[in-house]
Amino acid sequence: MKAQKFTGKIVIVTGASTGIGRETALAFAAAGAQVVAAARNAAQLRELAGPRILAVPTDITRDDDVRRLVETTLAKFDRVDILVNNAGFGIRASVEDTQFADAHRLMEVNFFGLLRCTQAVLPQMKKQGSGQIVNVGSVLSVLATPRNSIYSASKFAVRALSDSLRIELRGTGIDVILVMPGYTDTPFFENQVRYGGPVRIGPIKGWHPSKVARAILRACVRRKREVVLTAPGKLGAFLKRWCPRFLDWTLARAS
Ligand SMILES: NC(=O)c1ccc[n+]([C@@H]2O[C@H](COP(=O)([O-])OP(=O)(O)OC[C@H]3O[C@@H](n4cnc5c(N)ncnc54)[C@H](OP(=O)(O)O)[C@@H]3O)[C@@H](O)[C@H]2O)c1
Repeated sequence: MKAQKFTGKIVIVTGASTGIGRETALAFAAAGAQVVAAARNAAQLRELAGPRILAVPTDITRDDDVRRLVETTLAKFDRVDILVNNAGFGIRASVEDTQFADAHRLMEVNFFGLLRCTQAVLPQMKKQGSGQIVNVGSVLSVLATPRNSIYSASKFAVRALSDSLRIELRGTGIDVILVMPGYTDTPFFENQVRYGGPVRIGPIKGWHPSKVARAILRACVRRKREVVLTAPGKLGAFLKRWCPRFLDWTLARAS
C-alpha cells in the first residue's frame, strides 16, 4: 500500500493486540496513518506501540472504556477518519451444548461491542462530514456451518447492521465497509470457547493475517461495500446463494 494513501488519517483499530487487528494496525501505520490500537491486553498493546501507534487498553464491552478510547483519540488528534471494528472471538459447540452465558458473552463482544464503538465515533464523523467504518465480519456472515451457530449469528448480525447503517448514512460522507475474511492463521482458534474437540479441523492452510490487513486497506481506498476473502470463502458464498442444499450436504459430510 502506497504510504501517501493514508498520510494524516486517524485510524482506530479494535482487537489490535493479536492476529488480524495487530497486522491491520501495523499496515495502516506503515501506510502513513496515525493508529489508535485498542484491546484488553495492555502488555501486547505496549509491544505494538510506537511513533505511529498509540496504545489505549480497551474492553469494548465497557461503556467507559470505549468513551475513553474515543476521547483520547480526539484529545490527541482531533478527528477519527477510520474505525476498524475487528475485536471478536468464537465458540465451537453445537446449538444444544452451547452454554447460555458463553453465547451471551460472545454477542456482547462481537455484536454489541461493535455497535458501541460505532455509536461512539459517529457523531465526530458526522461533524467532519467524512469517515469510514470497517466491520470485520466473516465468511460466516453469509453462511453458517455446524458448531459455529452463535458465532455465525453474531457475524450475520454484523452484516445486517452494516447494511442498515450504510443506507442510513447515505449522503453523509461516511462509508460502511464489511470485510469478510475466510480462514486466517491467527490465535483465534486457540482463543475459541470449546467444550472439548480439536482446536481446528480441515486441511486447508489459512491466510496470513497481514494479507487480510492489506485487503482491509484496499477496501478503504476503493470504498468497497463488501469483500469476501479467500477462495474457499468465495466458493462457499457462491454455493450458499445458488446451491444451498448442496452446500448443506457438503458441510454435513465434512463435519
Ligand atoms: N481467524 C479467522 O479465521 C477469522 C475468519 C473470519 C473472521 N475473523 C474475525 O476477525 C477478527 C479478528 O480475529 P483474529 O482471527 O485476529 O483473532 P484473534 O487473534 O483471537 O484476535 C481477536 C482480538 O479481539 C480482541 N478482543 C477480544 N475481546 C475483546 C474485548 N472485549 N475488547 C477488546 N478487544 C477484544 C483480542 O484482544 P484482547 O484479548 O487483548 O482483548 C484480540 O486482539 C474477529 O472479529 C474474528 O471473528 C477471523
